[in-house]
Amino acid sequence: MLELEKFLTEFASALQVVKLYTLEHARSKQAVDKVYERLLEILNRNEEIVIGIVGEEFVSGKEVFFELSKRMKYLISDLISKGIEKIILIRGVTIEELYNFIKLLITKREDIKVDYEKYLSLLEVEHISVGRIKTPDSLGKERVEMKDLQIGEDVVGVVTNLFADILFNETIDVIQTRFLINNLFMKLLNGEFSLLTISMVKEHDVLTFIHSINVAILSMFFSARLNFNKENIIDIGIAGLFHDMGKIAISKELISKPGYFNYEEMKKMQRHTIIGARILLKYVHSLGVLPALVAFEHHLRYDLGGYPKLSYPYKPHKVSLIVSLCDFYDALRLRRSYKKAYPPEMVYNIMLKEKGRFLDPLLFDKFFSIMGVYPVDTVVELSNGFLAVVKEENEEDIFSPKVEVISLSDKSPILIDLKKRKDLKIKYSVKY
Ligand SMILES: [Fe+2]
Ligand SMILES: [Fe+2]
Repeated sequence: MLELEKFLTEFASALQVVKLYTLEHARSKQAVDKVYERLLEILNRNEEIVIGIVGEEFVSGKEVFFELSKRMKYLISDLISKGIEKIILIRGVTIEELYNFIKLLITKREDIKVDYEKYLSLLEVEHISVGRIKTPDSLGKERVEMKDLQIGEDVVGVVTNLFADILFNETIDVIQTRFLINNLFMKLLNGEFSLLTISMVKEHDVLTFIHSINVAILSMFFSARLNFNKENIIDIGIAGLFHDMGKIAISKELISKPGYFNYEEMKKMQRHTIIGARILLKYVHSLGVLPALVAFEHHLRYDLGGYPKLSYPYKPHKVSLIVSLCDFYDALRLRRSYKKAYPPEMVYNIMLKEKGRFLDPLLFDKFFSIMGVYPVDTVVELSNGFLAVVKEENEEDIFSPKVEVISLSDKSPILIDLKKRKDLKIKYSVKY
């Protein structure tokens, strides 16, 4: 959206002018008038404009303004320091409201005694609002740093709200989605990588949400290692998060039914691909086509033997194959109310059988060379009877990670690279 970029650029320079000359000066008036004109043009075509700050970038809908954000570093950090992460401009905005909004932005935080929302309403600004993007566990606190964000029940809460909004209000909060995925991505960059387990929540109907978050995390982790760029990784994360979107339309009883489905039930379950794609197609303008495509294709399988049945065969998109593999992996490793989590070696063996069938063989090899058969932190028993914790994968030998032997004495822990120890191997995993 080029005109929004122009608007932001002109807005930022108008702020500069106002700061230099005061708000009453003729030059300021000229600059603000220009911004207002541009704003009206955009609002002619759109009911509202929502601009968010995600990470260090301005975003609006699908658009992330990477270049522009670099040029506007100061404005962004100024807004962040004021606690403004989201600006909404609504059709009907008057030039007085724009002036009052600018006044708010050039005033020091400490000079405004009330919170910004209140301040704007005191000035009778009804068509501009500012606020924070809901960060898990940030409510009531100062802006949390990325590293403070825990992947835990708070994230589940945000995702639950996102899906509830889709189900009951038929809207997707696109900026909130981007914010969430960006936060998870930052955690990955910091080397913090954790998948959720079902044991952390009591209600089992959030299972789909936990699984969705995991698939988003895994897909981003995997695609980062496949050298996709940040922009694409975020898009893939969003597609991962929404891959099972269609399940919101399926009853909880059916989703959490233990054991096998009968024919009717299976057909119903399979419809989640089409339902999900249909919902997500409504958001192509803001989320792009990838989420809808992945929702539609993630059960197609590499050999096209899956569902939905196609009238003519075509190869699923690479991202669908990535998400589909992560989906498969998480479904096996996540403990359900009716089944225990499979041990990692079993997950690997089940997936190995699907190499070239359900799963793309090249992606399969790459995935396990990164994840290893035994993920980091798995407790294993070694062939000499010792217990050890997996510390690091070996890309060249996925069965032989680096492990730390668990010692009951006070001696410093012994790290063993199993790749170099042909006499020693993992017998089986004990805790995972
Ligand atoms: Fe699915
Ligand atoms: Fe899934």
